[in-house]
Amino acid sequence: MGRKFLNIEENYEYMEKLIAEFPDQLQEALDIGRKALIESRKDIHEVLICGMGGSGVGAHFVKDFVSETAQVPILINKDYEIPAFADEHTLVLASSYSGNTEETLAAYAAAKKQNCSIIAISSGGELMADAQAAGFDTISLPAGYPAPRACLGFSLVAQLFALHKSGCVPNFFEEQIIDTLERIKLEQEDMRSKAEQIAQLMVDRLPVMYGANRTDATLLRWRQQLNENAKHLAWHQVFPEMNHNEIVGWKGDYSQLLVVALRHRDDPARHQLRMDLTREVFQHWAGGYMEVYSRGGSFLEKSLYLVHLGDWVSYYLAELKGENPDEVKVIDHLKEQLKKYD
Ligand code: PA5
Repeated sequence: MGRKFLNIEENYEYMEKLIAEFPDQLQEALDIGRKALIESRKDIHEVLICGMGGSGVGAHFVKDFVSETAQVPILINKDYEIPAFADEHTLVLASSYSGNTEETLAAYAAAKKQNCSIIAISSGGELMADAQAAGFDTISLPAGYPAPRACLGFSLVAQLFALHKSGCVPNFFEEQIIDTLERIKLEQEDMRSKAEQIAQLMVDRLPVMYGANRTDATLLRWRQQLNENAKHLAWHQVFPEMNHNEIVGWKGDYSQLLVVALRHRDDPARHQLRMDLTREVFQHWAGGYMEVYSRGGSFLEKSLYLVHLGDWVSYYLAELKGENPDEVKVIDHLKEQLKKYD
């Protein structure tokens, strides 16, 4: 798997293609999810979603999207271990695009040992081979994508289907995903030009991103995409929590920071009020302040609209900085180093 890096222009084009094809990926992901053979479960007490990086971020969206309909708590696990309470009543979704990520493999092994009910979501690797051999339910993602973070559509939709087919959530999401991909197809050009403008403001500044509590997954995705695609540091925090600590840190010359508020017009009223009132603090101390509003009907659609916009921001920022959005050599290097200590 993987792709040879021939020259940087080619890689801009490749990531550009992957991002531009997000609506097609959502469509393909729906087809995969509909066909997936997942056994319906009884007596599930909680769901544990294990996955790192681009294969882990989908869990944050899933948790928020199903919060109103899930019959059981959804927990996110980003480590080698899983909680001691996990047992045969715990549904574990092991999500790794490559199927070879050591933390996810270790968590999967622990889930096996603790007799959890397991569904593996992967394009192959050790995870898929072992899960198939063990007779666990699996969802196979298309192989050959060089950047797992460009497969969010696949992993997110697969996780939703896994939860639905196993009996943990109703199927509220298919229509919302169709609405999302149709909107993105229609608005893609406009989103690209908005994203380019945002990226221009980020070139010389570090983005600090805020939103209402329910925007946490989207903020995390923007941050991770800026990190990996654009090789840019960023951080995020949510309202109302930031009003109880981080707001106090906003004192001094922070002209190197750009505040980006990701907002939904129907964010809870108290959160909106807090964001409006805190605006003047940012405007006083930060080097720039901007608000970006979502578009769409359902929360899922609005969130994925912002996700797609953020993906384009990371792409244009990489281009402006002369960075190759495909490569994550430092992660590859670290993984190689770690292997020496196996
Ligand atoms: O997007 C990336 O390249 C990373 O964040 C990977 O997703 C992360 O290293 C985990 O790998 P995988 O998704 O193959 O489990």
